[in-house]
This record gives sequence, structure tokens and C-alpha cells, in this order.
Amino acid sequence: MSPAQHPQLNTPTLNVLVVGNGGREHALAWKLHQSPSVAQVYVAPGNGGTARDQRLVSLPQLSATDVVGVRTWAQANGIGLVVVGPEAPLAAGLVDELRAHGVPVFGPTQAAAQLESSKAFSKAFMARHGIPTAAYDTFTDAALAHAYIDKMGAPIVVKADGLAAGKGVVVAMSLAEAHEAVDFMLEGNKFGVQHNAGGARVVIEEFLQGEEASFIVVCDGKTVLPLATSQDHKRLLDADQGPNTGGMGAYSPAPVVTPAVHDKAMNEVILPTMAGMAADGIPYTGFLYAGLMITPDGAVKTLEFNCRMGDPETQPIMMRLQSDLAAVLLAAANQQLAGTELSWDSRCALGVVLAADGYPLTPRKGDVITALPVDTADAVVFHAGTTLVGDELQTSGGRVLCATALGDGVKAAQERAYALVDQVAFAGMQFRKDIGYRAL
Ligand code: AMP
Ligand code: GLY
Repeated sequence: MSPAQHPQLNTPTLNVLVVGNGGREHALAWKLHQSPSVAQVYVAPGNGGTARDQRLVSLPQLSATDVVGVRTWAQANGIGLVVVGPEAPLAAGLVDELRAHGVPVFGPTQAAAQLESSKAFSKAFMARHGIPTAAYDTFTDAALAHAYIDKMGAPIVVKADGLAAGKGVVVAMSLAEAHEAVDFMLEGNKFGVQHNAGGARVVIEEFLQGEEASFIVVCDGKTVLPLATSQDHKRLLDADQGPNTGGMGAYSPAPVVTPAVHDKAMNEVILPTMAGMAADGIPYTGFLYAGLMITPDGAVKTLEFNCRMGDPETQPIMMRLQSDLAAVLLAAANQQLAGTELSWDSRCALGVVLAADGYPLTPRKGDVITALPVDTADAVVFHAGTTLVGDELQTSGGRVLCATALGDGVKAAQERAYALVDQVAFAGMQFRKDIGYRAL
């Protein structure tokens, strides 16, 4: 959107509050700060990176899921736009609370966020509205789940029905692994899933083969605007080995999303989802992330919905975005997205996640980050699990940093991102050495 269309946006008067503390929120805050309309960007609670950045104001005392606390603070501090990053405050009803008090907010309501917070909800929604996805069944009874696995055979996929920070999914290559996953999720709850009402429940679904892509759109309830395409690396280890994680690296654009795949994703997944949500009486506003599987025959199937931007996809996507993000999200918050266009840097952006020792199951905290490069306009180390303790940056989460860079082509972006990685040091640092390999 050009400033000429919105002359009131020419003077920086807008105070924006970004809710969350991950790499995604650091990247959103970094980009929002560049908007000509923005006076100040606050981040609640933020992380070590947002706290250290003089251009941002972090609010470490404000918890993202304290919906009344965040709303009260936003009202008291003249916030003109709240952007909610993670799923937990969305599932806790932060958007509903802000809207009820007239605070402009970009994000889905609690009811709409069930597309992510309940696998059972989203699978039933997709079945009802004919949105392509893997065949599935839902179980609360472990014996029935075990019997279903034996009937269907392996490989098979077991998903916890609740928020699990990307770790509630087991792609079981053997029957034994699938049975063990059911025991973990229905009995042991080893993954620390926040169960939905009715207690522990699993979705067991058909294994899909193909290449994944992250398809993320901005929605205002009526109009949909696709972001640049991206691809994430979900497995911990090189060559897509090891356990699933929240994401070990990402890049944009994703060549697997050809124009034909893009059309299918919009026409078969995104637009029917918008129409279905509206028909069900819960119009969708906010970022919507469809995790897609592009099968070898070119079909597009929905693996999952997330009701937010991806992390780490946000980091490369924000580096490529040239439009005024605050103007776009404010227009969306006011149901005025129609006519808005986004412009993108034609270069590739690639981000490498630097994770803590023990990630994903038992990440160690408190390691000191002893080396970090200086950011430039097109090479930035975004923070995720870091905390500022005095002048010292310490690790405080599983995914610690995301070294992200732009380059002419995937290879150049990859080289520049890994040049950043070489300049980072903390004990136990784990990272993949092959981010972007599918696009090379
Ligand atoms: P989800 O949170 O549902 O996206 O699952 C996390 C990851 O597990 C996905 O990104 C895929 O890599 C993998 N996955 C999920 N569902 C399937 C499936 N039906 N077939 C194959 N892989 C899957
Ligand atoms: N990177 C995948 C996600 O944000 O869920």
C-alpha cells in the first residue's frame, strides 16, 4: 500500500505492540519498526534481542497469555495496533479481549484459533468443507487407537490434540513407534501437550509423501493476501533426519510452490477455508498458515493449519518484505485489506536456527552467548530463546537464534547466512548445515 493512499500514515504516530517472545516476534518487531507510520514498537514480553535493541521497547514484566494485563497495558499506553505472534495468547482469547475493549488488533479470535489449537477441530473442519487433507480418525481410548494403527499399518502419523509447540506430532515409520506415540500422548503426556477440553485425545492419520511448503496469508475476514512462499526444515538433523522440531531453518521463496501449486493452494485450500470459517460463523482474521504437502503427482494437501506466522519462516519472509507492514496489518485489523498489494525483494532470504543443547526434548538454558555478529540491513541474527541478564546474553529456550540473510539466489543467501553462523558462539549450539538444500 502506498502512503499516498493513506495520507494519515505519513506522520509516525502509530504505537504498535507485538505480543510474544520468539524469533518470529523479533522479526515482526524489526520490520514494523521500519514502517514510516510507526512511532514506537513495544514487545511483550520480548527476548534478549528485543531488549538489547535500542529501537524497540521490551516489556519483560508482561506475559503474553495475561490477556487482561496485555489489554490494560495497551489501553493505558495509546497502542493503535496489537499484533499477536504466538498461538498460546490467541488460544487464550487475547484478540477477543482486545476487540471487546476497542483496541485495534491483528489476529484470529479464540474460536478461529481452534484451526491450530485443536487438530480434531481442524480435521473435522476440513472434512466438512472438502479441503484436501490426509484421511484420519480421532481417539481418546488408547486400546482403540492401538487397534486402528494395527489395521492401517505403518508409516502412519500420530498427532496430539492440543498445543504442543510443534512437538506433538510423531511421523511413525514403524508400528512400534506409532504404538509408543499413542502411549506417550494418551497416557504419559511426555510432550507436555496442553490438552483441549475432554482430556487427552489423538488424531491418527494417513502418511503423506511429498515436499512440504509453508503457505501463509494475511486475512481480514473477507480479503486474503498471500505472503511470499517459504519452506521450513522440521527435522533436527541434516538430510531431514531425527525428530520433528518447531523448525530448524527456512527460506523464501520456495521453488516447490510453482504458479500451478500456488493456484491450487489458493483455490483448494485457502479460499475454501475462508469461506468455510465464515459459513460456520467464525470469520477468520489474522495470519493463516497452511502447512502443505505437495505430492509427487502435483496434488496439494493440507498437513495442518497454524493461526499465526511460522517460526522460523517469518524471519526470511520479513527480510524480503518491502511493503509497509504496519499499514498492511492495520488495514487488515480494520477489514480494509481489499486493494492492498505487497512488494517483495526479488532476492532469496534464508535463515538458520541455532538451537540449544538438548533441543527439542530437553533444551538446556543459561548458556552465555559469547559471540554475535553485528547486524546489517540484509544480514540479521534474530533472537528467540535469549534473555539479557545485566549485559550478558544467555540462552533461555530451545531455539536460541536465527541467522538470516538475503542473497542473489539460494546459494548466495545460504553462504551469507552460514557466514553469520560462523560468528556466533555459545556452549552446546546445534544447527543444521544444509538449510535450503531442496532449493539448490
Ligand atoms: P503438523 O504439526 O501437523 O504440521 O505436523 C508436523 C510435521 O509432521 C509436518 O510438518 C510434517 O513434516 C509431518 N507430518 C504431519 N502430518 C503428516 C502426514 N500426514 N504425512 C506425512 N508427514 C506428516
Ligand atoms: N515452522 C513451523 C511453525 O511455525 O509451526
